[in-house]
Amino acid sequence: MSEPVIKVKRLAYVRVAAPEPARAEAFLLEFGLQVATRTDDAVYLRGTDPDPHCYVLSRGAAGVTAIAFEADDASDLERIARVEGASPIEKLDEPAGGQVVRLRDPQGMQVEIVHGLATLEAAEPAPPHAFNMDGRIRREGDLPAVRPGPSHVRRIGHLVLESGDPASVYRWYHERLGLRKADEIHLPGGGTQMVFASLDRGREFVDHHVVGFQYALDEGARVQHVAFEVGNLDDLMAGHHHLKSRGRKAVWGVGRHRYGGQIYDYWASPFGLIHEHWTDTDLVNAETAPTDCDFVDLEEYWGPQPSLSFVVSRWNWKAVRNLASLLAARLRAMRRSRAGA
Ligand SMILES: [Fe+2]
Repeated sequence: MSEPVIKVKRLAYVRVAAPEPARAEAFLLEFGLQVATRTDDAVYLRGTDPDPHCYVLSRGAAGVTAIAFEADDASDLERIARVEGASPIEKLDEPAGGQVVRLRDPQGMQVEIVHGLATLEAAEPAPPHAFNMDGRIRREGDLPAVRPGPSHVRRIGHLVLESGDPASVYRWYHERLGLRKADEIHLPGGGTQMVFASLDRGREFVDHHVVGFQYALDEGARVQHVAFEVGNLDDLMAGHHHLKSRGRKAVWGVGRHRYGGQIYDYWASPFGLIHEHWTDTDLVNAETAPTDCDFVDLEEYWGPQPSLSFVVSRWNWKAVRNLASLLAARLRAMRRSRAGA
């Protein structure tokens, strides 16, 4: 593959539309985001990190309307603005200011490359942990540092883009924004089920994935979920029980992912978008060798099986056919491993 046009610094925010934004906002506050600013058109929500906002909520047909990455400097904006199909550099007329170049990815998603956004003071994070575990005493005479209520979202960490051709979509992001394959999962027929891609920050360690490029069983294209780092394990579990107590829809979790290593917990917004809390990710750098795995062999470290609403974003005949063939391949693999045992 050719050298990328730029290497983005971080996932900055998502723009999400909801037909009843007040209902979506109520969910997001229970999920652990905080309102940073409110305008006539949008609510800007933040985590406890100093980033100005990681979630822009506005009125419209339900779905993610744009995803944004931050560039290192103004010269990267100039470089990406020269890519075919890119907008010129424009001023962002929003509370955090800054500049933007807009592109459209192969699955039709608007991608914003931003620079110069004003930061905020960090907000109060979840109280830090000290565990008496693993034979090590770290909490003598103190009560556990747990705050019941919503989790403390720190920042947006990653999202999953699903489509009928995730390998091509990944290539587009690699060539333009420098995302780098961390691991790949293959379908029984040899196609790509998932490319986990990290930022490429050289020797600096970064989250295992910033974007997952996933095969959609219905072969539609969308953001399948957006994921946010929370303070720690107690903070995640406190948030789990808070969302449960408010009657929110749990989608999958709590468990620990094999790829990425995070402890995860997935919840659906009132308009169907899946939001993930996670803590304790694996970290990789540009020297970490990617691995390959067959989908039929994939097992999480621990946790329940994913719900159907996590696996299938939209039902059509392709989703039924593809799900049936995946389940059959998995059953065959299980029988083979039992026979070999
Ligand atoms: Fe995730």
